Amino acid sequence: MKFPKDFLFGAASASYQVEGAWNEDGKGLSNWDVFSKIPGKTFENTNGDVAIDHYHRYKEDIKLMAEMGLESYRFSVSWARIIPDGDGEINEKGIEFYNNVIDECLKYGIVPFVTLYHWDLPQNLEADGGWVNKRTIRAFAKYAEVCFEAFGDRVKHWITFNETVVFCTLGYLNGAHPPGLVNDQKKYFQATHNVFVAHAEAVQIYKNLRQFGEIGITHVFNPAFSIDGKEENIFASMHANHYQTFWYYDPILKGEYPSYVVDALKEKGLTPDWTEAELTLLKDAADYNDFIGLNYYQPARVAKINETIESTKIDRDKATGKPGNPSFDGVYRTVMMEDKVYTKWGWEISSEGFLDGLRMLKERYGDVKLYITENGLGDEDPIIDGEIVDVPRIKYIEEHLTVIKSAISEGINLKGYYAWSVIDLLSWLNGYKKQYGFIYVDHKNNLERKKKLSFHWYKHIIETRGEEL
Ligand code: BG6
Repeated sequence: MKFPKDFLFGAASASYQVEGAWNEDGKGLSNWDVFSKIPGKTFENTNGDVAIDHYHRYKEDIKLMAEMGLESYRFSVSWARIIPDGDGEINEKGIEFYNNVIDECLKYGIVPFVTLYHWDLPQNLEADGGWVNKRTIRAFAKYAEVCFEAFGDRVKHWITFNETVVFCTLGYLNGAHPPGLVNDQKKYFQATHNVFVAHAEAVQIYKNLRQFGEIGITHVFNPAFSIDGKEENIFASMHANHYQTFWYYDPILKGEYPSYVVDALKEKGLTPDWTEAELTLLKDAADYNDFIGLNYYQPARVAKINETIESTKIDRDKATGKPGNPSFDGVYRTVMMEDKVYTKWGWEISSEGFLDGLRMLKERYGDVKLYITENGLGDEDPIIDGEIVDVPRIKYIEEHLTVIKSAISEGINLKGYYAWSVIDLLSWLNGYKKQYGFIYVDHKNNLERKKKLSFHWYKHIIETRGEEL
């Protein structure tokens, strides 16, 4: 079986992780420009000032993507490049840059798939309360409209937000992402709600413009499974799925929050400040949301605990996705299991968990259209005689694409796959050591690009539409 004709084979990146040019051509400061410079916040104090200099080398990079046969490129727009202070003047130079990137993609027939928010918030808004302040909702709606107006004639696929669960958890509970708050559960839930409202506003604006493209959101897909058949651990997996998945997916797809969480928040005095109008907007926008993007790296294996959590602050290395942390409410813990396989950074490799998770989604949300907007292996790639022989990455992607094929044959509505990442880039908390790309970037040699083994392999997969998988 080949992948269906309308299935897109792509790869992804994000502005802060590739662009660099942090203060060029009128770009404003982002929260990451500031946060990454606080000593100890990132691995070896790396930051995105230069990143891999995609801002100046996008032509070379997109040419390589074309050579790989990429059908679609998912990238994000840096809000502070478009509106430097978040909600004021528009920076024409920023518009020009993304026009160039989009046109360069189209020159090769590569479909641009654009994310509006991949974590780099204009610092001016962050300083005014960021996602907790409703001003940011209005600012996002304006920014989204500017992007639709500027690029919507050529961009027909829009993602509003990337991984709300990650930037809110790390930003408001764990102190590991901006704004660096610890254990602020009230702000955490408020921020998530404000993001969902901002998403809903953007969906409405987009549909009113009648540009006839599609719009959705990208979430982490981290389905939770009990470590065994014990009742208390099965309860833990149900609890984890409600807080980590349904709290994020329900408001987008069903237009309402899961009552299991809503009731608990009410009891604890953590209910976000939400208005009837906002709740109605969520309901209305859910009817127009076109798809969900899933970023799948690993499932969660969970066990019940009963702990009082004094502080949810975690060190940088514990904030990088390796299992072992208790949930913020002390109900369960994620667990590393002896019979599972893990990457060098302790992320479980499980294509079975992927398939089981997709089935879980279908059961809850029916035929919703899905894209895999990120999936891939973070590794320190082996270099032999100057060649980057990233065989483990090939194996990883092969397994996951094979699962997608079976999922499609089961009737799961999957329309595209974006490997993370198209090119080696800056990992927020792991610097340049953890590589994901099909294209290698030589940091010791003027950021020279080089094709990895996986580059040739993915090209073949695309050419043959995955027939051999
Ligand atoms: C996702 C993000 O969470 O995971 C990406 O959307 C990120 O931006 C990717 O780079 C991999 O994470 P890490 O920590 O391994 O770089």
